[in-house]
Amino acid sequence: MQLWKGRFEKELDPKTNDFNSSISFDSRMFKEDIEGSIAHATMLAAKGIITSEDLGAIVEGLKNIKAEIESGELLIDPNAEDIHTFVEGELTARIGAAGKRLHTARSRNDQVALDIRLYLRKECEALYAQLTELIDVLLKKAEQYADAVMPGYTHLQRAQPITFGHHLLAYAEMLLRDKERLSDAKNRMNYCPLGACALAGTTYNTDREMTAKDLGFFGPMQNSLDSVSDRDFCIELAAALSIIMVHLSRFSEEIVLWASFEFKFIELDDAFSTGSSIMPQKKNPDITELIRGKSGRVFGDLTTLLTMMKGLPLAYNKDMQEDKEAIFDAFDTVKMCLTAFIPMLDTMVALPKNMRKAAAGGFINATDCADYLVSKGLPFRDAYKATGELVALCIKKGTTLEELPLEEYKNICDMFDDGVYTAIDLDKCVNDRTSLGGPAPQNVLAQVKRVKEINK
Ligand code: ARG
Repeated sequence: MQLWKGRFEKELDPKTNDFNSSISFDSRMFKEDIEGSIAHATMLAAKGIITSEDLGAIVEGLKNIKAEIESGELLIDPNAEDIHTFVEGELTARIGAAGKRLHTARSRNDQVALDIRLYLRKECEALYAQLTELIDVLLKKAEQYADAVMPGYTHLQRAQPITFGHHLLAYAEMLLRDKERLSDAKNRMNYCPLGACALAGTTYNTDREMTAKDLGFFGPMQNSLDSVSDRDFCIELAAALSIIMVHLSRFSEEIVLWASFEFKFIELDDAFSTGSSIMPQKKNPDITELIRGKSGRVFGDLTTLLTMMKGLPLAYNKDMQEDKEAIFDAFDTVKMCLTAFIPMLDTMVALPKNMRKAAAGGFINATDCADYLVSKGLPFRDAYKATGELVALCIKKGTTLEELPLEEYKNICDMFDDGVYTAIDLDKCVNDRTSLGGPAPQNVLAQVKRVKEINK
């Protein structure tokens, strides 16, 4: 059944019907569609546009439809044009004329713009809760490994000593910003398009403030064309989701590296690893690889939305029906990734001994060696050069700064004395890095406390 029959002499071609239909992906908004219709009908009755008897029949009919879809008693017709058509058709079949009055002073254009907002508002809340949970897991691990010394990297080359707790907290900071971005976007979206009708409002004496308030919005949108024309909220959310995926993907890549025999900084739980069908020794970090891979889908969704919108004249165009598959897929994907990632991280065990071994082998205390000479009065550039020569000497001799005898130090710079060995001690190098935001265990514990406060 189409809602727009009157003007047409023929049914829509069956193949075209499938092409035109959005029911296969918008039926997930049935609750929001019904919620919006109840608010609309309530307003129509309050303004005397429909009778209270009609309102009673509409509300009861819609509530029954919702309950029956939820229980599985009522199946959504896959041949319906969209969820709005299906619900209205079903209502009219049940209550007759009152059902046909529901669409007074409304269009599917403001209806769909409303339904997506209501639906995405809930999605934002669900995702927000998952991000909070992930940060909590990170905090637990950061506390546990606050003093686990590991090499920090630049260019994937060992650079300076940090702690594993500090490394994990870097991701906690990114995820805190992700939460903020999500709630900013949600707040910007939280204005109600209902009552904008097809594009030009209505001559009925409607009350848009009332429906907006009823549906939990900050207020109504202020321009009827804009209300039905823009999908900037979908784009903004897809961008926020893409950034989340960038963060999850980088983290995943690190876990892939850390899980390898070459690093062996961590051990993933068997429940979150897979084996190979031919190589019996393999334990693969598939979850993290999938997350890395799935980031591409979400970026694709963002690109879909941007491209779909960029050439559209105001107001509604059917192109915009494509918004839902993209933004739904983006949310589904990120939520699914987090559902797997959170328990995987929670059960991941770090191997601080291996981290320390890697930290001891990469001359990551060279900066501290140079700083030691600076503390003796040598300008930093000269200290840098002397230390560079020492590193080259160690490489040639196959030794480390810790093991190089003092005479060798003195040959390169006579300002060295025994104190250098304390200065380049790994634990000291880490423990002394107490500058704000630094990796010292005491900083990590303070940051864990701070983030805990924010992440409520
Ligand atoms: N299924 C449509 C969509 O998702 C609903 C709006 C239809 N509006 C119209 N003027 N054809 O965009």
